[in-house]
Amino acid sequence: MSRLVIVSNRVALPGRRGGGQGGLATGLVGALAAQGGLWFGWNGRLSDAPATPLLEHDPPITYALTPLSHREFEGYYIGFANRCLWPVFHAQLHLMHYEPDDLSIYLEVSWRWAGELVPLLGPGDLIWVHDYHLIPLGCALRAQGVTSPIGFFLHTPFPGVDLLRALPGKHRLVEMLLGYDLIGFQTPLDCQSFYRTLAFFLPEAHREAGGVRYRGHLTRVDCFPIGIAVEEVGQLARSGRHNRHGQRLEASLTGRRLILGIDRLDYSKGLANRFRAYERLLERWPEFQRQVVLLQIAPLSRTEVPEYGAIRSQLNAIVGDIHARYAEYDWMPLRYMTRGFPRSTILGFLRQAEVGFITPLRDGMNLVAKEYVAAQDPEHPGVLVLSGLAGASQELEEALIVNPYDIEEMAGALAKALAMGLEERCQRFQGMMERLRRGDLRHWITSFRDALAATAPAGEGG
Ligand code: G6P
Repeated sequence: MSRLVIVSNRVALPGRRGGGQGGLATGLVGALAAQGGLWFGWNGRLSDAPATPLLEHDPPITYALTPLSHREFEGYYIGFANRCLWPVFHAQLHLMHYEPDDLSIYLEVSWRWAGELVPLLGPGDLIWVHDYHLIPLGCALRAQGVTSPIGFFLHTPFPGVDLLRALPGKHRLVEMLLGYDLIGFQTPLDCQSFYRTLAFFLPEAHREAGGVRYRGHLTRVDCFPIGIAVEEVGQLARSGRHNRHGQRLEASLTGRRLILGIDRLDYSKGLANRFRAYERLLERWPEFQRQVVLLQIAPLSRTEVPEYGAIRSQLNAIVGDIHARYAEYDWMPLRYMTRGFPRSTILGFLRQAEVGFITPLRDGMNLVAKEYVAAQDPEHPGVLVLSGLAGASQELEEALIVNPYDIEEMAGALAKALAMGLEERCQRFQGMMERLRRGDLRHWITSFRDALAATAPAGEGG
């Protein structure tokens, strides 16, 4: 079997897999742990010295890690990736900030990484590039002589034409996507947005069965919804449920019912509206006062990006408001924390929660929503209240699907979740579990891998 070479900006570094790393690192570490391979990416450090990637072996994975220079960190990671692409791809145009140098530095990083990766490649490798940070990498690798199949998977949503129109460099980036042999999206909606984008920005690209032909090259396009390792999540949740933190959480609740949200602290996660919806629940259904607790764990993320500082201050103010209005000397309605916890503790908390409250304004998939379901006790499952604008809502149909911009609707869904009887909860849970098992992490890896191998000329790859 060919070796899998994964390239992503964020790498789940061996020995440092704490909370808050996001769905990409969580998914990829599972992907490579299953079958081994090479993982190339950022070591999380800044250095202005000329870089050669350092190899680190943690069988079955070999890591090749490279630092970013200060200029690259500012222009590529903070600048173009996280102040332009991220807000545009998550439909938050008002938060987009563009500096022309950032786009050039963004392109340069892919070119440099391609140069460092090429000597590590062998014949027959399958190269799988991840996420919006590295759109130009496929073309950069080809220009530096790589002939192996190269695929790209976008973990975020793919934006509609109207959003993309606001993005500087859009033509070039869309064209660069067509340098890949395979492009994978999270959901059918993202695929549709991509095809519409092509029709609008690159009408010379022709749609063919299963893909797009541009300047003679065929790029396959498909949707590969990322899944989770269902059994492993269930097992970690069972052990985490009764670890030291699980027991402390349970004791602290003194019988009150737990509503739980877990997200990186990111404006796309819709935390402000979520807190307002919870406040509305307490206002409209006062019988829940003193009976429920909302625990929101939101590990700090991208703290160097100014827009993340702003959402942090906004959330602090809302939490303060809610406490001032509803807290009692023996009841804090909302517990809000910005630190991370080990994975099994988080999964144990999810198992303990009667309601999983996951309401991003926009999200490629949202693996926490899937993990909430897989973490439940099948005899007494909780209820998932899920944003219809998260990719996961297209699979988890039995969740209570809400509009994350509609505070009233979200409050109503919380009330409904808290009142739902065991039979209905079990039925909804079983429907979701079936789908999670069918589309699990292994299925995601093998289906993308097989589709990528199939793009190789006969006799190569696979
Ligand atoms: C999202 C992105 C990932 C990213 C993660 C954490 O899940 O799709 O590419 O790694 O957020 O963000 P960070 O900026 O810390 O890598």
